[in-house]
Amino acid sequence: MTQVTQIPLASEKLDENPVVAGTNVSGHAPDHHILGSWTGDRSTLLEDDSEIHNAICDLNQPVYIVQDQNQQNMLSHHGEARIGAQVESDAMPLTGFAPASSPRQLGDISFCEDHGLRFPYMCGAMANGIASIELVEAAANAGLLSSFGAAGLTLSEIENAAKHITETLGSKPFCFNLIFSPNEKGHEDAVVSLYLKYEIRLIETSAYMKLTLPAVRYRVHGIHRNANGEIETPNRIIAKASRVEIATKWFSPPPEKMLQELVASGDITEDQAVLATEIPMAQDLTVEADSGGHTDNRPAITLLPTIIALRDRCQKEFNYTLPLRVGAAGGIATPASAAAAFSMGAAYVLTGTVNQACIESGSSDIVRKMLADAQQADVTMAPAVDMFEMGVKLQVLKRGTMFAMRGNKLYELYRAYDSIDAIPEKERLSLEKSIFKAPLDDIWQLTRDFFNQRDPEQVIKAEQDQKHKMALIFRWYLGLSSRWANTGEESRQVDYQVWCGPAMGAFNEWTKGSWLAEPANRTIVAVAMNLLYGAAVVTRINALRNQGVQFLDQVTHLAPQEISVIEQNIS
Ligand SMILES: Cc1cc2nc3c(=O)[nH]c(=O)nc-3n(C[C@H](O)[C@H](O)[C@H](O)COP(=O)(O)O)c2cc1C
Repeated sequence: MTQVTQIPLASEKLDENPVVAGTNVSGHAPDHHILGSWTGDRSTLLEDDSEIHNAICDLNQPVYIVQDQNQQNMLSHHGEARIGAQVESDAMPLTGFAPASSPRQLGDISFCEDHGLRFPYMCGAMANGIASIELVEAAANAGLLSSFGAAGLTLSEIENAAKHITETLGSKPFCFNLIFSPNEKGHEDAVVSLYLKYEIRLIETSAYMKLTLPAVRYRVHGIHRNANGEIETPNRIIAKASRVEIATKWFSPPPEKMLQELVASGDITEDQAVLATEIPMAQDLTVEADSGGHTDNRPAITLLPTIIALRDRCQKEFNYTLPLRVGAAGGIATPASAAAAFSMGAAYVLTGTVNQACIESGSSDIVRKMLADAQQADVTMAPAVDMFEMGVKLQVLKRGTMFAMRGNKLYELYRAYDSIDAIPEKERLSLEKSIFKAPLDDIWQLTRDFFNQRDPEQVIKAEQDQKHKMALIFRWYLGLSSRWANTGEESRQVDYQVWCGPAMGAFNEWTKGSWLAEPANRTIVAVAMNLLYGAAVVTRINALRNQGVQFLDQVTHLAPQEISVIEQNIS
Protein backbone atom coordinates (compact mmCIF):
# COMPACT_ATOMS: atom_id res chain seq x y z
CA MET A 1 0.00 0.00 0.00
CA THR A 2 1.41 3.43 -0.93
CA GLN A 3 1.50 5.75 2.03
CA VAL A 4 0.34 9.27 1.35
CA THR A 5 2.85 10.88 3.70
CA GLN A 6 5.65 10.24 1.21
CA ILE A 7 5.31 13.00 -1.32
CA PRO A 8 7.31 12.54 -4.52
CA LEU A 9 9.62 15.40 -5.40
CA ALA A 10 7.96 17.80 -7.80
CA SER A 11 9.84 18.60 -10.95
CA GLU A 12 7.58 21.53 -11.80
CA LYS A 13 8.15 24.97 -10.40
CA LEU A 14 6.29 25.36 -7.15
CA ASP A 15 5.61 29.07 -7.52
CA GLU A 16 3.04 28.88 -10.26
CA ASN A 17 0.30 29.81 -7.83
CA PRO A 18 0.39 33.42 -6.70
CA VAL A 19 1.20 34.00 -3.05
CA VAL A 20 -1.80 35.32 -1.15
CA ALA A 21 -1.42 37.32 2.00
CA GLY A 22 -3.41 36.05 4.92
CA THR A 23 -6.39 37.36 6.82
CA ASN A 24 -6.20 37.99 10.51
CA VAL A 25 -8.61 36.53 13.03
CA SER A 26 -9.90 38.68 14.52
CA GLY A 27 -8.30 41.64 12.80
CA HIS A 28 -8.56 43.27 9.43
CA ALA A 29 -7.79 41.19 6.40
CA PRO A 30 -4.82 42.51 4.42
CA ASP A 31 -6.42 41.33 1.18
CA HIS A 32 -9.33 39.36 -0.16
CA HIS A 33 -8.40 35.72 0.16
CA ILE A 34 -11.79 34.21 -0.46
CA LEU A 35 -12.57 30.49 -0.59
CA GLY A 36 -16.23 30.78 -1.48
CA SER A 37 -19.41 31.93 0.14
CA TRP A 38 -21.20 31.41 3.43
CA THR A 39 -24.87 31.70 4.18
CA GLY A 40 -26.46 31.30 7.57
CA ASP A 41 -27.84 32.96 10.63
CA ARG A 42 -25.69 36.06 11.11
CA SER A 43 -26.55 36.24 14.80
CA THR A 44 -24.31 33.16 15.28
CA LEU A 45 -21.21 35.07 14.10
CA LEU A 46 -18.58 35.63 16.78
CA GLU A 47 -16.15 38.57 16.72
CA ASP A 48 -14.56 38.66 20.12
CA ASP A 49 -11.07 37.08 20.42
CA SER A 50 -11.89 34.92 23.40
CA GLU A 51 -15.16 33.72 21.86
CA ILE A 52 -13.30 32.88 18.66
CA HIS A 53 -10.63 31.04 20.66
CA ASN A 54 -13.27 28.97 22.47
CA ALA A 55 -15.08 28.23 19.23
CA ILE A 56 -11.91 26.97 17.55
CA CYS A 57 -11.23 24.77 20.57
CA ASP A 58 -14.65 23.12 20.32
CA LEU A 59 -13.68 20.27 18.04
CA ASN A 60 -17.21 18.87 17.95
CA GLN A 61 -18.31 21.76 15.76
CA PRO A 62 -17.15 22.82 12.31
CA VAL A 63 -15.82 26.38 12.01
CA TYR A 64 -16.61 28.82 9.22
CA ILE A 65 -14.50 31.99 9.02
CA VAL A 66 -16.23 34.78 7.14
CA GLN A 67 -15.56 38.43 6.37
CA ASP A 68 -17.80 41.43 6.84
CA GLN A 69 -17.77 44.43 4.49
CA ASN A 70 -14.83 45.93 6.44
CA GLN A 71 -12.85 42.74 5.87
CA GLN A 72 -13.17 41.96 9.56
CA ASN A 73 -13.06 38.21 10.23
CA MET A 74 -15.77 36.47 12.19
CA LEU A 75 -16.45 32.86 13.08
CA SER A 76 -19.56 30.73 13.17
CA HIS A 77 -20.16 27.06 13.98
CA HIS A 78 -23.23 27.04 11.79
CA GLY A 79 -24.39 27.79 8.30
CA GLU A 80 -23.57 26.51 4.86
CA ALA A 81 -20.36 26.94 2.89
CA ARG A 82 -20.05 26.74 -0.87
CA ILE A 83 -16.42 26.45 -1.93
CA GLY A 84 -15.57 28.36 -5.10
CA ALA A 85 -19.03 29.90 -5.26
CA GLN A 86 -19.47 33.54 -6.15
CA VAL A 87 -20.54 35.62 -3.21
CA GLU A 88 -24.19 36.50 -3.80
CA SER A 89 -25.92 39.38 -2.05
CA ASP A 90 -27.43 37.15 0.67
CA ALA A 91 -24.05 35.46 1.34
CA MET A 92 -20.82 36.49 3.01
CA PRO A 93 -17.27 35.77 1.79
CA LEU A 94 -15.85 32.58 3.29
CA THR A 95 -12.13 32.83 4.17
CA GLY A 96 -11.64 29.58 6.05
CA PHE A 97 -13.32 26.31 6.95
CA ALA A 98 -12.44 23.43 9.27
CA PRO A 99 -14.70 20.42 9.80
CA ALA A 100 -15.47 18.91 13.19
CA SER A 101 -12.54 16.71 14.19
CA SER A 102 -11.21 14.46 16.93
CA PRO A 103 -7.76 13.63 18.36
CA ARG A 104 -8.52 10.06 17.27
CA GLN A 105 -8.10 11.18 13.64
CA LEU A 106 -4.63 12.60 14.20
CA GLY A 107 -2.81 9.31 13.74
CA ASP A 108 -3.52 5.99 12.10
CA ILE A 109 -7.00 4.84 13.06
CA SER A 110 -5.98 1.21 12.44
CA PHE A 111 -3.46 1.57 15.30
CA CYS A 112 -6.36 2.41 17.63
CA GLU A 113 -8.54 -0.36 16.24
CA ASP A 114 -5.87 -3.06 16.38
CA HIS A 115 -4.91 -2.25 19.96
CA GLY A 116 -8.39 -1.37 21.26
CA LEU A 117 -7.53 2.28 21.95
CA ARG A 118 -9.56 5.43 22.09
CA PHE A 119 -6.62 7.55 20.92
CA PRO A 120 -3.31 6.98 19.08
CA TYR A 121 -1.26 7.56 22.21
CA MET A 122 1.14 5.39 24.12
CA CYS A 123 3.01 5.82 27.41
CA GLY A 124 6.39 4.13 26.90
CA ALA A 125 7.90 1.72 29.41
CA MET A 126 9.90 3.19 32.27
CA ALA A 127 12.31 0.80 33.95
CA ASN A 128 12.19 -0.40 37.55
CA GLY A 129 8.41 -0.17 37.60
CA ILE A 130 8.44 3.63 37.15
CA ALA A 131 5.84 2.80 34.51
CA SER A 132 3.96 1.23 37.40
CA ILE A 133 0.89 -0.97 37.67
CA GLU A 134 -1.13 2.14 38.63
CA LEU A 135 0.15 4.01 35.60
CA VAL A 136 -0.68 1.17 33.21
CA GLU A 137 -4.16 0.84 34.72
CA ALA A 138 -4.91 4.58 34.61
CA ALA A 139 -3.92 4.72 30.95
CA ALA A 140 -5.91 1.59 30.02
CA ASN A 141 -9.04 2.87 31.74
CA ALA A 142 -8.84 6.00 29.61
CA GLY A 143 -8.38 4.02 26.38
CA LEU A 144 -4.64 4.72 26.12
CA LEU A 145 -1.84 2.20 25.78
CA SER A 146 0.86 1.97 28.40
CA SER A 147 3.83 -0.35 28.74
CA PHE A 148 4.72 -1.78 32.15
CA GLY A 149 8.31 -0.92 33.12
CA ALA A 150 9.69 -4.43 33.58
CA ALA A 151 13.35 -3.61 32.91
CA GLY A 152 15.53 -3.81 36.00
CA LEU A 153 12.92 -5.75 38.01
CA THR A 154 13.31 -9.30 39.28
CA LEU A 155 11.36 -12.10 37.68
CA SER A 156 9.05 -12.34 40.66
CA GLU A 157 8.34 -8.58 40.58
CA ILE A 158 7.46 -8.85 36.89
CA GLU A 159 5.30 -11.89 37.60
CA ASN A 160 3.37 -10.01 40.30
CA ALA A 161 2.69 -7.21 37.84
CA ALA A 162 1.68 -9.65 35.10
CA LYS A 163 -0.72 -11.42 37.44
CA HIS A 164 -2.22 -8.17 38.70
CA ILE A 165 -2.55 -6.38 35.37
CA THR A 166 -3.99 -9.33 33.44
CA GLU A 167 -6.58 -9.81 36.19
CA THR A 168 -7.63 -6.18 36.59
CA LEU A 169 -7.49 -5.08 32.97
CA GLY A 170 -8.69 -8.19 31.12
CA SER A 171 -9.25 -7.10 27.52
CA LYS A 172 -8.39 -3.42 28.09
CA PRO A 173 -5.22 -2.20 26.38
CA PHE A 174 -1.80 -2.68 27.98
CA CYS A 175 1.60 -4.06 27.16
CA PHE A 176 4.81 -5.11 28.91
CA ASN A 177 8.36 -4.13 28.15
CA LEU A 178 11.06 -6.52 26.98
CA ILE A 179 14.47 -4.93 27.06
CA PHE A 180 17.66 -6.06 25.31
CA SER A 181 19.79 -7.63 28.05
CA PRO A 182 23.12 -8.73 26.55
CA ASN A 183 24.51 -9.18 30.06
CA GLU A 184 21.61 -11.31 31.26
CA LYS A 185 20.53 -13.56 28.43
CA GLY A 186 18.90 -16.07 30.78
CA HIS A 187 16.78 -13.31 32.28
CA GLU A 188 15.46 -12.17 28.88
CA ASP A 189 14.45 -15.74 28.05
CA ALA A 190 12.77 -16.20 31.44
CA VAL A 191 10.82 -12.95 30.99
CA VAL A 192 9.56 -14.17 27.61
CA SER A 193 8.45 -17.47 29.18
CA LEU A 194 6.59 -15.49 31.80
CA TYR A 195 4.84 -13.33 29.18
CA LEU A 196 3.81 -16.47 27.32
CA LYS A 197 2.56 -18.07 30.55
CA TYR A 198 0.35 -15.05 31.36
CA GLU A 199 -0.74 -14.72 27.72
CA ILE A 200 0.51 -11.18 27.46
CA ARG A 201 -0.30 -10.53 23.83
CA LEU A 202 1.49 -7.24 23.29
CA ILE A 203 5.01 -6.26 24.26
CA GLU A 204 7.17 -3.21 23.70
CA THR A 205 10.75 -4.17 22.83
CA SER A 206 13.54 -1.71 23.39
CA ALA A 207 17.27 -0.99 23.31
CA TYR A 208 17.90 -3.98 21.00
CA MET A 209 21.14 -3.83 19.05
CA LYS A 210 20.25 -7.06 17.23
CA LEU A 211 17.38 -9.53 17.27
CA THR A 212 17.53 -12.26 19.89
CA LEU A 213 16.10 -15.76 20.05
CA PRO A 214 13.76 -14.96 22.99
CA ALA A 215 12.26 -11.98 21.10
CA VAL A 216 11.68 -14.17 18.02
CA ARG A 217 10.29 -16.97 20.18
CA TYR A 218 7.73 -14.57 21.64
CA ARG A 219 6.66 -13.24 18.27
CA VAL A 220 6.13 -16.57 16.49
CA HIS A 221 4.65 -18.49 19.42
CA GLY A 222 1.23 -19.80 18.40
CA ILE A 223 1.38 -18.49 14.81
CA HIS A 224 -1.26 -20.23 12.65
CA ARG A 225 -3.62 -19.87 9.72
CA ASN A 226 -7.23 -19.08 10.61
CA ALA A 227 -10.35 -20.53 8.97
CA ASN A 228 -10.10 -17.87 6.22
CA GLY A 229 -6.59 -18.92 5.43
CA GLU A 230 -5.08 -15.72 6.89
CA ILE A 231 -1.97 -15.84 9.06
CA GLU A 232 -2.71 -15.00 12.68
CA THR A 233 -0.08 -14.10 15.23
CA PRO A 234 -1.42 -14.02 18.76
CA ASN A 235 1.66 -12.14 20.00
CA ARG A 236 2.44 -8.67 18.75
CA ILE A 237 5.45 -6.44 19.21
CA ILE A 238 5.70 -2.66 19.23
CA ALA A 239 9.42 -2.21 18.71
CA LYS A 240 11.34 0.89 19.67
CA ALA A 241 14.38 1.91 17.66
CA SER A 242 16.38 4.95 16.72
CA ARG A 243 18.54 3.54 13.94
CA VAL A 244 17.72 2.41 10.43
CA GLU A 245 19.71 -0.86 10.78
CA ILE A 246 17.78 -1.90 13.87
CA ALA A 247 14.42 -0.70 12.57
CA THR A 248 15.03 -2.75 9.40
CA LYS A 249 15.40 -5.91 11.49
CA TRP A 250 12.10 -5.25 13.26
CA PHE A 251 10.28 -4.54 10.00
CA SER A 252 11.70 -7.74 8.42
CA PRO A 253 10.45 -11.31 8.93
CA PRO A 254 12.18 -13.27 11.72
CA PRO A 255 15.64 -14.50 10.66
CA GLU A 256 15.53 -17.96 9.07
CA LYS A 257 18.40 -19.22 11.26
CA MET A 258 16.53 -18.38 14.46
CA LEU A 259 13.34 -19.96 13.16
CA GLN A 260 15.28 -23.18 12.52
CA GLU A 261 16.71 -23.04 16.05
CA LEU A 262 13.17 -22.76 17.40
CA VAL A 263 12.08 -25.73 15.28
CA ALA A 264 15.05 -27.73 16.59
CA SER A 265 14.19 -26.86 20.21
CA GLY A 266 10.54 -27.84 19.65
CA ASP A 267 9.22 -24.32 20.30
CA ILE A 268 7.56 -24.16 16.87
CA THR A 269 6.81 -26.60 14.07
CA GLU A 270 8.24 -26.58 10.54
CA ASP A 271 4.87 -25.30 9.30
CA GLN A 272 4.94 -22.42 11.77
CA ALA A 273 8.47 -21.54 10.67
CA VAL A 274 7.20 -21.27 7.09
CA LEU A 275 4.29 -19.02 8.12
CA ALA A 276 6.70 -16.83 10.09
CA THR A 277 8.54 -15.88 6.90
CA GLU A 278 5.47 -13.87 5.87
CA ILE A 279 5.16 -11.61 8.91
CA PRO A 280 7.25 -8.71 10.20
CA MET A 281 8.86 -9.06 13.61
CA ALA A 282 6.94 -5.90 14.50
CA GLN A 283 4.05 -4.28 12.67
CA ASP A 284 4.47 -1.14 14.79
CA LEU A 285 7.74 0.62 15.39
CA THR A 286 8.30 3.65 17.57
CA VAL A 287 11.00 5.98 16.32
CA GLU A 288 12.83 7.22 19.36
CA ALA A 289 14.44 10.61 18.89
CA ASP A 290 16.21 12.59 21.64
CA SER A 291 14.52 11.19 24.76
CA GLY A 292 14.90 10.40 28.42
CA GLY A 293 16.84 7.19 29.14
CA HIS A 294 18.52 5.25 26.31
CA THR A 295 18.84 7.57 23.33
CA ASP A 296 21.00 8.36 20.32
CA ASN A 297 19.99 12.02 20.76
CA ARG A 298 18.72 12.22 17.18
CA PRO A 299 16.36 15.10 16.33
CA ALA A 300 12.82 13.84 15.65
CA ILE A 301 12.49 16.19 12.73
CA THR A 302 15.22 14.33 10.84
CA LEU A 303 14.76 10.80 12.16
CA LEU A 304 11.03 10.35 11.63
CA PRO A 305 10.99 10.91 7.84
CA THR A 306 13.92 8.51 7.45
CA ILE A 307 12.16 5.70 9.29
CA ILE A 308 8.87 6.41 7.50
CA ALA A 309 10.73 5.99 4.21
CA LEU A 310 12.16 2.72 5.54
CA ARG A 311 8.65 1.57 6.44
CA ASP A 312 7.55 2.09 2.85
CA ARG A 313 10.57 0.25 1.45
CA CYS A 314 9.99 -2.71 3.77
CA GLN A 315 6.27 -2.78 3.03
CA LYS A 316 7.07 -2.93 -0.68
CA GLU A 317 9.88 -5.46 -0.35
CA PHE A 318 8.02 -7.93 1.88
CA ASN A 319 4.52 -7.22 0.58
CA TYR A 320 2.92 -7.81 3.99
CA THR A 321 -0.83 -8.19 4.23
CA LEU A 322 -1.02 -5.74 7.11
CA PRO A 323 0.42 -2.22 6.85
CA LEU A 324 3.56 -1.36 8.81
CA ARG A 325 3.17 1.66 11.09
CA VAL A 326 5.58 4.16 12.60
CA GLY A 327 5.01 6.03 15.86
CA ALA A 328 7.01 8.98 17.18
CA ALA A 329 8.74 9.39 20.53
CA GLY A 330 11.33 11.71 21.96
CA GLY A 331 10.57 15.25 22.99
CA ILE A 332 6.79 14.99 22.78
CA ALA A 333 5.61 17.19 25.61
CA THR A 334 3.49 19.99 24.17
CA PRO A 335 0.46 20.17 21.86
CA ALA A 336 2.67 21.61 19.12
CA SER A 337 5.24 18.79 19.30
CA ALA A 338 2.52 16.13 19.23
CA ALA A 339 0.82 17.92 16.30
CA ALA A 340 4.16 18.13 14.47
CA ALA A 341 4.77 14.39 14.88
CA PHE A 342 1.32 13.56 13.57
CA SER A 343 1.63 15.96 10.67
CA MET A 344 4.93 14.33 9.72
CA GLY A 345 3.07 11.04 9.39
CA ALA A 346 3.32 9.39 12.82
CA ALA A 347 0.68 6.69 13.30
CA TYR A 348 0.79 7.37 17.06
CA VAL A 349 2.82 9.32 19.57
CA LEU A 350 4.62 7.95 22.61
CA THR A 351 5.66 9.88 25.71
CA GLY A 352 8.06 8.93 28.49
CA THR A 353 9.74 11.68 30.47
CA VAL A 354 6.54 13.61 31.18
CA ASN A 355 4.91 10.47 32.58
CA GLN A 356 7.61 10.01 35.20
CA ALA A 357 6.54 13.40 36.56
CA CYS A 358 2.97 12.11 37.05
CA ILE A 359 1.56 10.95 40.36
CA GLU A 360 1.03 7.35 39.20
CA SER A 361 4.68 6.84 38.30
CA GLY A 362 6.75 4.55 40.49
CA SER A 363 9.10 7.43 41.26
CA SER A 364 9.17 9.52 44.43
CA ASP A 365 7.64 12.90 45.28
CA ILE A 366 11.14 14.37 45.60
CA VAL A 367 11.87 13.36 42.01
CA ARG A 368 8.52 14.68 40.81
CA LYS A 369 9.40 18.04 42.37
CA MET A 370 12.89 17.99 40.81
CA LEU A 371 11.34 17.25 37.43
CA ALA A 372 8.83 20.07 37.84
CA ASP A 373 11.76 22.49 38.26
CA ALA A 374 13.68 21.22 35.23
CA GLN A 375 14.35 23.38 32.23
CA GLN A 376 15.25 22.44 28.67
CA ALA A 377 19.03 22.32 29.18
CA ASP A 378 18.97 20.56 32.57
CA VAL A 379 19.75 17.14 31.07
CA THR A 380 22.95 15.33 30.20
CA MET A 381 24.33 11.91 29.24
CA ALA A 382 25.60 9.39 31.81
CA PRO A 383 26.58 5.68 31.73
CA ALA A 384 23.82 3.08 31.59
CA VAL A 385 23.90 0.36 34.22
CA ASP A 386 22.73 -2.39 31.88
CA MET A 387 25.34 -1.76 29.17
CA PHE A 388 28.03 -0.02 31.24
CA GLU A 389 30.95 -2.00 29.85
CA MET A 390 29.89 -1.25 26.27
CA GLY A 391 30.04 2.48 26.96
CA VAL A 392 26.31 2.94 26.38
CA LYS A 393 24.96 6.17 27.84
CA LEU A 394 21.52 7.44 28.66
CA GLN A 395 19.95 10.83 29.22
CA VAL A 396 19.40 11.94 32.80
CA LEU A 397 18.47 14.97 34.84
CA LYS A 398 21.45 17.20 35.64
CA ARG A 399 19.85 19.80 37.85
CA GLY A 400 19.97 18.99 41.58
CA THR A 401 22.02 15.78 41.34
CA MET A 402 25.67 14.82 40.85
CA PHE A 403 24.86 11.41 39.44
CA ALA A 404 25.94 12.13 35.87
CA MET A 405 29.31 13.52 36.95
CA ARG A 406 29.96 10.59 39.29
CA GLY A 407 28.75 7.96 36.84
CA ASN A 408 30.99 9.38 34.12
CA LYS A 409 33.92 9.35 36.55
CA LEU A 410 33.36 5.64 37.21
CA TYR A 411 33.29 4.93 33.49
CA GLU A 412 36.56 6.81 32.98
CA LEU A 413 38.20 4.71 35.73
CA TYR A 414 36.80 1.52 34.22
CA ARG A 415 38.36 2.46 30.87
CA ALA A 416 41.70 3.41 32.42
CA TYR A 417 42.34 0.45 34.75
CA ASP A 418 42.10 -3.34 34.59
CA SER A 419 41.05 -3.94 38.16
CA ILE A 420 40.01 -2.24 41.37
CA ASP A 421 43.50 -2.95 42.76
CA ALA A 422 45.08 -1.04 39.88
CA ILE A 423 43.24 2.18 40.75
CA PRO A 424 45.63 4.58 42.58
CA GLU A 425 44.99 4.63 46.31
CA LYS A 426 44.12 8.33 46.45
CA GLU A 427 41.50 7.84 43.77
CA ARG A 428 40.13 4.75 45.45
CA LEU A 429 39.80 6.50 48.82
CA SER A 430 37.99 9.36 47.16
CA LEU A 431 35.53 6.91 45.56
CA GLU A 432 34.92 5.20 48.89
CA LYS A 433 34.35 8.52 50.63
CA SER A 434 32.21 10.42 48.16
CA ILE A 435 30.47 7.91 45.93
CA PHE A 436 30.27 4.52 47.65
CA LYS A 437 30.39 5.76 51.26
CA ALA A 438 31.91 2.40 52.22
CA PRO A 439 35.10 0.40 51.53
CA LEU A 440 35.02 -1.16 48.06
CA ASP A 441 35.57 -4.60 49.62
CA ASP A 442 32.26 -4.21 51.44
CA ILE A 443 30.57 -3.09 48.24
CA TRP A 444 31.88 -6.22 46.50
CA GLN A 445 30.28 -8.38 49.22
CA LEU A 446 26.92 -6.68 48.64
CA THR A 447 27.30 -6.94 44.88
CA ARG A 448 28.17 -10.63 45.10
CA ASP A 449 25.13 -11.35 47.28
CA PHE A 450 22.90 -9.54 44.78
CA PHE A 451 24.23 -11.42 41.75
CA ASN A 452 24.23 -14.77 43.55
CA GLN A 453 20.46 -14.33 43.76
CA ARG A 454 19.84 -12.89 40.31
CA ASP A 455 22.53 -14.22 38.00
CA PRO A 456 25.26 -16.35 39.68
CA GLU A 457 27.27 -16.66 36.47
CA GLN A 458 28.24 -13.03 36.87
CA VAL A 459 29.96 -13.82 40.17
CA ILE A 460 31.85 -16.78 38.70
CA LYS A 461 32.99 -14.58 35.82
CA ALA A 462 34.01 -11.75 38.15
CA GLU A 463 36.14 -14.07 40.25
CA GLN A 464 38.11 -15.00 37.15
CA ASP A 465 38.14 -11.56 35.52
CA GLN A 466 39.11 -8.57 37.69
CA LYS A 467 37.90 -6.04 35.13
CA HIS A 468 34.47 -7.64 35.20
CA LYS A 469 34.54 -7.48 39.00
CA MET A 470 35.28 -3.75 38.77
CA ALA A 471 32.36 -3.32 36.36
CA LEU A 472 29.98 -5.11 38.74
CA ILE A 473 31.12 -2.95 41.68
CA PHE A 474 30.64 0.24 39.67
CA ARG A 475 27.27 -0.99 38.48
CA TRP A 476 26.27 -1.31 42.15
CA TYR A 477 26.31 2.49 42.33
CA LEU A 478 24.61 2.95 38.96
CA GLY A 479 21.86 0.50 39.88
CA LEU A 480 21.22 1.87 43.35
CA SER A 481 21.23 5.50 42.26
CA SER A 482 17.99 4.78 40.36
CA ARG A 483 16.49 2.99 43.36
CA TRP A 484 17.39 5.87 45.69
CA ALA A 485 15.56 8.24 43.34
CA ASN A 486 12.51 5.99 43.06
CA THR A 487 12.21 5.42 46.79
CA GLY A 488 13.06 9.04 47.63
CA GLU A 489 16.07 8.10 49.81
CA GLU A 490 16.75 11.55 51.26
CA SER A 491 20.36 10.93 52.32
CA ARG A 492 21.25 10.14 48.70
CA GLN A 493 19.43 12.92 46.83
CA VAL A 494 22.68 14.19 45.41
CA ASP A 495 23.17 10.76 43.78
CA TYR A 496 19.71 10.40 42.24
CA GLN A 497 19.75 8.91 38.76
CA VAL A 498 16.65 10.31 37.08
CA TRP A 499 16.17 9.47 33.43
CA CYS A 500 14.93 12.57 31.75
CA GLY A 501 14.88 14.14 28.30
CA PRO A 502 14.51 17.73 27.12
CA ALA A 503 10.77 17.02 26.93
CA MET A 504 10.55 17.86 30.64
CA GLY A 505 11.70 21.45 30.18
CA ALA A 506 9.32 21.91 27.25
CA PHE A 507 6.41 20.56 29.30
CA ASN A 508 7.25 22.77 32.28
CA GLU A 509 7.48 25.81 30.04
CA TRP A 510 4.09 25.08 28.47
CA THR A 511 2.34 24.39 31.79
CA LYS A 512 3.99 27.30 33.66
CA GLY A 513 1.40 29.21 35.68
CA SER A 514 -1.36 26.67 34.91
CA TRP A 515 -2.94 24.01 37.11
CA LEU A 516 -0.65 21.41 35.49
CA ALA A 517 2.45 23.18 36.83
CA GLU A 518 1.73 21.62 40.22
CA PRO A 519 3.25 18.09 40.52
CA ALA A 520 0.22 16.84 42.49
CA ASN A 521 -2.08 17.64 39.54
CA ARG A 522 -0.03 15.82 36.95
CA THR A 523 -1.83 12.59 36.14
CA ILE A 524 -1.15 10.31 33.20
CA VAL A 525 -4.58 10.97 31.76
CA ALA A 526 -4.52 14.75 32.27
CA VAL A 527 -1.17 14.97 30.50
CA ALA A 528 -2.17 12.65 27.66
CA MET A 529 -5.56 14.25 27.07
CA ASN A 530 -4.04 17.73 27.05
CA LEU A 531 -1.38 16.72 24.55
CA LEU A 532 -3.88 14.98 22.28
CA TYR A 533 -6.57 17.59 22.49
CA GLY A 534 -4.03 20.40 22.14
CA ALA A 535 -2.50 18.68 19.12
CA ALA A 536 -5.93 18.47 17.48
CA VAL A 537 -6.54 22.18 18.11
CA VAL A 538 -3.09 23.11 16.76
CA THR A 539 -3.80 20.95 13.70
CA ARG A 540 -7.11 22.75 13.15
CA ILE A 541 -5.43 26.15 13.48
CA ASN A 542 -2.75 25.07 10.99
CA ALA A 543 -5.39 23.88 8.53
CA LEU A 544 -7.03 27.33 8.67
CA ARG A 545 -3.64 29.01 8.42
CA ASN A 546 -2.93 27.04 5.26
CA GLN A 547 -6.10 28.56 3.81
CA GLY A 548 -4.69 32.00 4.43
CA VAL A 549 -6.26 32.76 7.81
CA GLN A 550 -3.65 34.22 10.13
CA PHE A 551 -4.30 34.02 13.84
CA LEU A 552 -3.49 36.44 16.58
CA ASP A 553 -1.61 35.17 19.66
CA GLN A 554 -4.67 35.51 21.87
CA VAL A 555 -6.47 33.05 19.65
CA THR A 556 -3.72 30.43 19.30
CA HIS A 557 -2.32 30.23 22.82
CA LEU A 558 -3.66 27.03 24.33
CA ALA A 559 -3.37 26.63 28.09
CA PRO A 560 -3.70 23.19 29.75
CA GLN A 561 -7.34 22.34 30.42
CA GLU A 562 -9.18 20.24 32.99
CA ILE A 563 -10.16 16.80 31.63
CA SER A 564 -13.88 17.61 32.00
CA VAL A 565 -13.45 20.66 29.73
CA ILE A 566 -11.56 18.61 27.16
CA GLU A 567 -14.25 15.93 27.14
CA GLN A 568 -16.87 18.59 26.34
CA ASN A 569 -14.83 19.70 23.34
CA ILE A 570 -14.15 16.32 21.75
CA SER A 571 -16.25 13.36 20.80
C1 LIG B 1 12.45 7.27 33.64
C2 LIG B 1 12.45 6.62 32.31
C3 LIG B 1 12.66 5.26 32.21
C4 LIG B 1 12.61 4.63 30.96
N1 LIG B 1 12.75 3.29 30.90
C5 LIG B 1 12.54 2.65 29.72
C6 LIG B 1 12.52 1.24 29.67
O1 LIG B 1 12.75 0.55 30.64
N2 LIG B 1 12.22 0.65 28.48
C7 LIG B 1 11.93 1.40 27.37
O2 LIG B 1 11.58 0.85 26.34
N3 LIG B 1 12.00 2.74 27.38
C8 LIG B 1 12.27 3.37 28.54
N4 LIG B 1 12.25 4.73 28.58
C9 LIG B 1 11.95 5.48 27.35
C10 LIG B 1 10.46 5.81 27.25
O3 LIG B 1 9.67 4.66 27.18
C11 LIG B 1 10.17 6.66 26.02
O4 LIG B 1 10.50 5.94 24.87
C12 LIG B 1 10.93 7.96 26.00
O5 LIG B 1 11.00 8.49 27.29
C13 LIG B 1 10.22 8.93 25.07
O6 LIG B 1 10.93 10.15 24.97
P1 LIG B 1 10.72 11.37 25.99
O7 LIG B 1 11.44 11.03 27.21
O8 LIG B 1 11.31 12.52 25.27
O9 LIG B 1 9.23 11.50 26.20
C14 LIG B 1 12.37 5.39 29.80
C15 LIG B 1 12.21 6.77 29.90
C16 LIG B 1 12.26 7.38 31.13
C17 LIG B 1 12.07 8.87 31.22
